[in-house]
Amino acid sequence: MRFLLLWALIPMDPASVEAGKQIYMGSCSGCHGATGEGSQGPSLLSGRAGRLPDKTLLNSIQNGLPGTSMPDFPMGAQKVAQVAAFVRSLTAPAADTVVAGDAGRGKALFFGAGKCVACHMIRGEGGHPGPDLSNIAAERTVPQLRESVMKPGARIADGFRGVTAVLASGATVKGVAKNYNNYSVQILDGSGKMHLLETREVKRLEWTDGSLMPAVTGAEDAQNLVAFLATLSTRGGSK
Ligand code: HEC
Ligand code: HEC
Repeated sequence: MRFLLLWALIPMDPASVEAGKQIYMGSCSGCHGATGEGSQGPSLLSGRAGRLPDKTLLNSIQNGLPGTSMPDFPMGAQKVAQVAAFVRSLTAPAADTVVAGDAGRGKALFFGAGKCVACHMIRGEGGHPGPDLSNIAAERTVPQLRESVMKPGARIADGFRGVTAVLASGATVKGVAKNYNNYSVQILDGSGKMHLLETREVKRLEWTDGSLMPAVTGAEDAQNLVAFLATLSTRGGSK
């Protein structure tokens, strides 16, 4: 019976997560929000929901939480596990989930036509001024990666706001603002050079609305890129 122990309680493959999403949309989204953000019920994106042990999560879904408005869902173990997989996918690091899409094609796009490598480093290879992505799968969830790729301006990582400094001399320096205070601003440009400018040499700062990063609009390209990004972790080991 040893093989039974090898079965994960919550199957994180794309088909299970997708099946769980359908159930979630029908049964749970009314109280927990379409993307888990919470409404009548608590947010499922918080650290708290993410840390519930597998058994507790499965049990809460199947039997409800007595004394609260969280009802029971006597829908069979497989469906409970699927919806739990979807709930997990909302908070699990991308490195710990199996992601739909073709990572090989995503990689080709990243280093080729997508030009991502011009602005991002992976393990010492690539360019600036985007964040280093070597360990991004351990730091972000799949929904966060998808948002970064399709709507780069939705949340701008600290220290990556786009800016152009127009200097008193008339020259301009363009890049992302690393540090900014009353006396100075540090700008990392596209060649990886850090410019430390004193405010008195700067005529004005023009902040970029949104991200310096262009959005990926094709759903299939975005999915393949997310599948590739989900393999980027420095912890090594299996995936
Ligand atoms: C009628 C509203 C309602 C529905 C429908 C509902 N929930 Fe809940 N849920 C709640 C409330 C309220 C709580 C908080 C209970 C408490 O006070 O601890 C909760 C708690 C939870 C928790 C624990 C969160 C935590 O941080 O401890 C999980 C996980 C959860 N719900 C998942 C689901 C799933 C999955 C579904 C659909 C199968 C679902 N819920 C449907 C209202 C609802
Ligand atoms: C012109 C430079 C540029 C290009 C080209 C570019 N990016 Fe970005 N990227 C950025 C910057 C700057 C940020 C940080 C600001 C933000 O969060 O939008 C960023 C953020 C990200 C993030 C979020 C990182 C985090 O810490 O959460 C991901 C993922 C990402 N890019 C992937 C890609 C992919 C995939 C491509 C190719 C399709 C790409 N980028 C192309 C500049 C770029």
